[in-house]
Amino acid sequence: MARYSHIVGWGMYVPERVVTNDDLAKIVDTSDEWIRTRTGIRERHIVDKPNESTSTLAVRAARAALDKAGLPPSALDMIIVATSSPDHLFPATACIVQDALGATRAGAYDLSAACSGFVYGMAMAHGLIVSGQADTVMVIGAETLSRLVDWSDRNTCVLFGDGAGAIIMQAREEPGGFLASVLGADGSGANLLTLPAGGSKLPASVETVRNGDHYIKMDGRAVFRFATRVMAEATREVVEKAGLTLDDVELIIPHQANTRIIDSSVIKQLKFPKERVFVNLDRYGNTSTASIPIALTEAVEQGRLNPGDHVVFVGFGAGLTWAAALIQWGMPAPPLPTWKRWWYRFWYPWSRLLSAYRRLRRRVFAAWLGTKERSQEELESLRERTRRGTEDRS
Ligand code: ACO
Repeated sequence: MARYSHIVGWGMYVPERVVTNDDLAKIVDTSDEWIRTRTGIRERHIVDKPNESTSTLAVRAARAALDKAGLPPSALDMIIVATSSPDHLFPATACIVQDALGATRAGAYDLSAACSGFVYGMAMAHGLIVSGQADTVMVIGAETLSRLVDWSDRNTCVLFGDGAGAIIMQAREEPGGFLASVLGADGSGANLLTLPAGGSKLPASVETVRNGDHYIKMDGRAVFRFATRVMAEATREVVEKAGLTLDDVELIIPHQANTRIIDSSVIKQLKFPKERVFVNLDRYGNTSTASIPIALTEAVEQGRLNPGDHVVFVGFGAGLTWAAALIQWGMPAPPLPTWKRWWYRFWYPWSRLLSAYRRLRRRVFAAWLGTKERSQEELESLRERTRRGTEDRS
């Protein structure tokens, strides 16, 4: 029996604090007029509480997507978090999200493909579903890039915003859903958009902090040229791959980086009608991996998608990477009965309690093990086994 992967849930979350262009003009040499005309951005949402991070935004978006799909977290087989601003280098932000949701049956991993990451994640989810390895996969794009930009660098700090968007993809028998994808990379442009320090190549040190190497560095003009080319090419390719033409596409949801990039790629080069291109970057700025799922959520809420519609998601980002996917929108899930909604709400505090219990149990066990001294014989046998293992290998 053929398996198709459909989007059955969607949700978004942005932090409360809004930073306008005029606010930025107070801290760097810029103006509302420059930012609006060069990027299309008017304002962005920024985390301003110490306990907010990429995972906390991701969890809010994920819960909204589960609500929309009418599914409990236990239904998830896999959680993929696409992000360039993870909570930590490791563990994966996806694992933190998995624990916070109480998605105890789900595997979880992070995906790093910069702003193209969400569409890469959709393609991975589709692969897992059609190959039968998973039935229900959550894909999240979440960022707190405000924590990684240099707030004294006007070339970058005006561009980015924080936020998260999530979708749930699920196996279905009805044809439709995810129809085609195009994923690409060109690492020769890795230096054009990078966060140089903090990895194994340039570990964090007093020196890297002094040089500001822990902030985003970007050659804006080169990224601009690359973006306008690949957004048009990837869109054209994915439509062809699905056996369709641009006339069959009801909506394009591009990565929300800059209205000029969107205008000169999909609108001018492909001659695609402007009114069928979804843009909301004026209110959120460039939220990187979160921009496409946030835009999708708003597009659905505004009634821009009907069952049977074809929609293209297309993005580009650091790497350099690019990605496009073509989806045939399906039937919305029937609304959840009230008792189920309440039951699912109860799930989150309950799973927090369970998680706290698991932590406590681990701590008690570690303390108990720490007090138990190994006997001399045990140590001798351990040494012997290690020595024999080394000899066998050599
Ligand atoms: N306010 C005022 N002036 C500014 C600002 C600012 N915020 N930023 C730059 N300028 C100045 C520059 O210093 C330059 O001055 P100069 O001519 O005296 O040197 C002038 O404005 C023009 O600079 P350009 O770089 O040519 O401006 P451009 O029209 O290319 O716009 C921008 C810059 C908005 C960054 C554009 O190049 C762009 O959008 N590039 C793509 C960036 C992007 O999308 N990055 C995200 C990728 S996705 C990801 O993976 C995170």
